[in-house]
Amino acid sequence: MSRHISPSILAADFSNLDKEIDRINQSKASWLHCDIMDGSYVPNISFGFPVLEHIKKLSKKPLDVHLMIVKPERYIDRFCDLGIDNLTVHIEACLHLHRAVQQIKEKGVKAGVSLNPGTPVESLTEILGDLDFVLVMSVNPGFGGQKLIENTFDKVVRLKQLITASKSHALIQVDGGVDLSNAHKLFDCGVDVLIAGTEVFHAKDPVLAVEHLLNA
Ligand code: DX5
Ligand code: ZN
Repeated sequence: MSRHISPSILAADFSNLDKEIDRINQSKASWLHCDIMDGSYVPNISFGFPVLEHIKKLSKKPLDVHLMIVKPERYIDRFCDLGIDNLTVHIEACLHLHRAVQQIKEKGVKAGVSLNPGTPVESLTEILGDLDFVLVMSVNPGFGGQKLIENTFDKVVRLKQLITASKSHALIQVDGGVDLSNAHKLFDCGVDVLIAGTEVFHAKDPVLAVEHLLNA
């Protein structure tokens, strides 16, 4: 079991992006999480290629990109060509999930699949062996600052059992409503990567906030 923190840039002050990213550069975060929303798959729009390119230039941390867009297959190559480390697509948004995952891996990028709160972990059974990450949404996707859904803990335990049984090396990420009150329990249930927006970027000291989550 490993412990990682991936701060979600969605909660950052975008008028001060350079400073915000610099704080994460100084922290013990393993990645910088970037949410791409298209206003169609989720009821919100975040940012696109120019901003992501800028983030890539500033970040010393590898980028962990979470696509919340319909038919993500259309843009996989373009995102991978930006030099990102991880690319995660939603199972609910892909018509051909297996093909999308192979498309990501062919570009030399680590592949993740995300599950919305209403999607069962069993839906991943056939693809687990191909994945580097499973991203469990612990809120309904689209917005930062929401409260973690309680069923997440049980879901992570069941996912961990599936991963172990299938001898997959996939790491479990949890995204949404992660804070100091639930971080320890999430790690205990088998989470490897805590994705946290508000808890890190709204903290007085984001470097310390990352450290606290890591040691929760
Ligand atoms: C939500 C996004 C999350 C979000 C998490 O749809 O995928 O990455 O930024 O934000 P917090 O940690 O504030 O819930
Ligand atoms: Zn996310």
